[in-house]
This record gives sequence, structure tokens and C-alpha cells, in this order.
Amino acid sequence: MATKKQKKAKAASKKAARKVVKLAAARKTKNKINGKNNGLPRVSSKPYGQDGKALTGVRILDFTHVQSGPTCTQLLAWLGADVIKVERPGIGDITRGQLVDVKGADSLYFTMLNHNKRSITIDSKHPQGKRVLDELIKVCDVLVENFAPGALDRMGLTWEYIHKVNPRMIVASVKGFGPGPYEDCKVYENVAQCAGGSASTTGFREGPPLVTGAQIGDSGTGLHLALGIVSALYQRTRTGRGQKVLAAMQDGVLNLCRVKLRDQQRLKAGPLTEYSQYGENIPFADSVPRAGNDSGGGQPGWILKCKGWETDPDAYIYFITQAPVWAEICDLIGEPSWKTDAEYATPRARLPKLKAIFARIEQWTMTMSKFEVMEICNKVDIPVGPILSMKEIAEEPSLRKTGTVVEVDHPTRGKYLSVGNPIKLSDSISEVRRSPLLGEHTDEILKDVLKLSSKDITEIKNSGALSAPKKEEKAA
Ligand code: COA
Repeated sequence: MATKKQKKAKAASKKAARKVVKLAAARKTKNKINGKNNGLPRVSSKPYGQDGKALTGVRILDFTHVQSGPTCTQLLAWLGADVIKVERPGIGDITRGQLVDVKGADSLYFTMLNHNKRSITIDSKHPQGKRVLDELIKVCDVLVENFAPGALDRMGLTWEYIHKVNPRMIVASVKGFGPGPYEDCKVYENVAQCAGGSASTTGFREGPPLVTGAQIGDSGTGLHLALGIVSALYQRTRTGRGQKVLAAMQDGVLNLCRVKLRDQQRLKAGPLTEYSQYGENIPFADSVPRAGNDSGGGQPGWILKCKGWETDPDAYIYFITQAPVWAEICDLIGEPSWKTDAEYATPRARLPKLKAIFARIEQWTMTMSKFEVMEICNKVDIPVGPILSMKEIAEEPSLRKTGTVVEVDHPTRGKYLSVGNPIKLSDSISEVRRSPLLGEHTDEILKDVLKLSSKDITEIKNSGALSAPKKEEKAA
């Protein structure tokens, strides 16, 4: 028999259970009213591409210059962030005036790396300039910089200071090296390619190390940094606080060269059989050699001449002898017996003869243009890649159609071509807007972002914090 006390407790627990059910029902109704999906976040009813962009609402204080940092912030701007580029009065990002092709206009170097951004000029070492920066730090989500080590600190913008002014701010940096013996070094693209393992593994065995045309040190690191920033923004939704994000160029290049570190370790187990060096009976040393045009994976490949190679430097094709389509390759090149001949029939049997095999395939590719080879091979699933010149890429209609290559109009230089956003999101439509003129948005930012009064703006302007020092002052 239940005691009076037990009966009372049972009744209380029943009452509590009823309350939970009631609350859940109330929440369900409330969610329905708010358009929420049973406790899950709201699903937009707007058509795809019309409910903002992926990073709408994110504001970036962009202290970047040259290439690595600007690549990162341009990408974030394409994805919808409001990027405010802070530039030194009178000078701006040094690339504005580098590799100039149209006198008096911003260079393509600058315009192609700074789309969709706003520009404000601030002398960050001027007391009033510092005041403006403090205000910007308060209203921005991320500060991105790629100054030489220590430069941001010398401006007084240490992590501790920024974190105190705005604990939510993410401070993202590109540096040449991570902590260690070289951390204080200034670094440019090719230095990173050399220090990150790319140069030692690029080029031909008998030649010197080579740097590549792809800007894996600068743009590659910018991409790494962008991912770090987006991740930190996501973590902030949970923690409420910012953090430091560091992408070192050496690390970024090494990340892109990871297959070579793989091969370095495989050397212990014997020669790297997929390198043509193996087929040529040349012994391996104790570090990964340069592999010429060998394919980095398990399917051998090489660059072969096509019709016209004598006069056209790009009349070549990359040809991969992928094992599953070996029979098709044999038929196409007129060597059907190689399909069953034990000397050629298996990938292992072919390894020591790759040079001769590619020479035979080349006899065939030389009878056609690279596009003809591409067409014939693709019909039977043989992976090949025409060596496209920049001229051919610039004129390729399919790249224009997808927005990967875009024509942009600029007030002082006119129309130019640029690479658009290479990352396509189905619900976040990218538009490519021209790069800003130096200080073009200074007033707009002071007024609309910082909500400063006209009196304050005039006072700051009169202090000289936003303009280049006059010639006489400079000389003095
Ligand atoms: N107001 C006042 N001063 C400003 C300023 C502003 N708005 N913007 C920049 N400056 C100052 C900096 O404070 C710094 O001054 P300080 O050294 O007297 O303190 C100075 O301009 C130049 O900065 P720095 O980064 O040293 O430029 P640099 O031209 O000498 O070096 C790099 C260029 C790229 C080598 C160097 O920035 C670097 O190593 N960056 C990190 C790695 C990197 O991103 N490399 C790839 C670049 S594509």
C-alpha cells in the first residue's frame, strides 16, 4: 500500500510529465508560427540564390596586401562577406602600381585580387587613425592580415589588444613560416615553393629545381586561410569568442605536396616503380627525386607531342595509360597484340618499358591536334588533357558561361578579364564586382559602418589620419 507521501510524490511526477508534454506542444506551435521546422532551423521559402549569400552578415577588416592575403579576402567577399580593405593613404596596396599595363590605372595584379571589396585609407600609426581602427575592430568579425612578422604588433594591434576591444574577433594571418627558426622571415611565393618541398620535386631529374606557375605559396595559402576563418566563425557560434588563425606558406605548400612526403617514406621500401627513373634503371637517392611529367599517382602518364608541336609551344597532350583502358589504347595506336602479349598486358610488365610505350603512343598523337586526340580518347574513356595556353583559356566559351572567366569593367582601365569565383554554391550566387579605387569608400564606411557624425568625420580628416602627408610635411 502506498503511503500518503508516496501518493503525493506520484501525483507530483504525473503533473511534471504533463507539463513537459504541454511545453513540447507549445514549442511545436510556436515553431510553426515562426516558420521553424519542428525545432530544426527555419528552411527558407525563397528561391535558391535569393536568400542572401553564404557569408552575408560577416564583416572583414582586411589588412592584406600583395597576393596571399588578398586571395583569401577576395574569396570571402565573393561568398558574401563585407570586406573593408584598409590601405595606407596615398600608396595603398603596393600591387596597385606594380606590373602596370595601363598608365594611371590600377594594375591587373591589384584588380584581379581585390574584387568585391571596399577601400578605406587609414594611417594606422596616426593617433586618429588608430581611433578609427579601434571602432572598426568593434564592428568587424574578422581581421585578416599578411604583414611581415611583427608589423601588426608594431601598429599596436596585438592579439591581446584586439581581443580586449572585441572578444568575438577572429584574427587571421598569413606568415611565411610557422613558429620555429624562420618565423621572422619575410616570404614571397617562390620562397614558399622552395621551402615547402615543391621546387625540389618539380622539374626534370637532370635539371635544377623548378618553381611552378601556379601560385601555390600565395593563392594556395590564401585558400587555406579562408577555410580557417570560416571554421573559426563556425566555432564562434558555439563559443562566442574569436581565435587566432594562422596559415604559414611553408605549411600550405607542403600540404599541397603531401604525395611527395608519401613517396619520401615509400623510398624505404624500395624504388618508386611508377617514376620513369625506375624504368630507366637509374638508382634512387635518399630523397624524392624530380619526376618530370610523371603522373603522381599509380596510373602512368606523360606529356606527348601533337600535330603542330614544331611551331606551337602548347601543341601537347597529357596522356594517362590507365590500366582499365589499356585495351582501348592498344587498339587506337595500332598495337592490338599488346593487349595479350605478356610483356605489355599488365601494369607491372609495362613499368620498365614506359618510355618506349609513351614514344609509341606519341607517334600516334603527333598525327592529330590535341583537341582531336582529346575527342577520340574521351569516347573510349582514356583520360587525357590538352595543354591549354592562357590565350585558349581566355577564349574558352564554357569558362565564360560558368563565370570562371569573367569580363569586368573598371572606371580607369576599362574592360579586363579576370578569374571569377572558382567555388560554386547553388544557394549563394556569386557576382564579380570591380576592385575599389584607393580610398573610394572612406566616407561611406565612416558614415554607414561607424555611424560617425559629419563633425567627427571632418575632425578626423583634418587630423591627416586618412590622407597622405603633404610633400613639404614628408620632407620635413
Ligand atoms: N598605415 C601605416 N602603416 C602601414 C599601413 C597603414 N595603413 N599598412 C602597412 N603599413 C606599414 C606596416 O606597419 C609596416 O611598417 P613597419 O615595418 O615599419 O612596422 C610596413 O607598412 C610594411 O609592411 P611589410 O609587411 O613589412 O611590407 P613589405 O613590403 O616590407 O614586405 C612581404 C612584404 C610580403 C614580404 C611581407 O609582408 C611578408 O612577409 N608577409 C607575410 C608573408 C606573405 O604574405 N607573403 C606573401 C605576399 S604575396
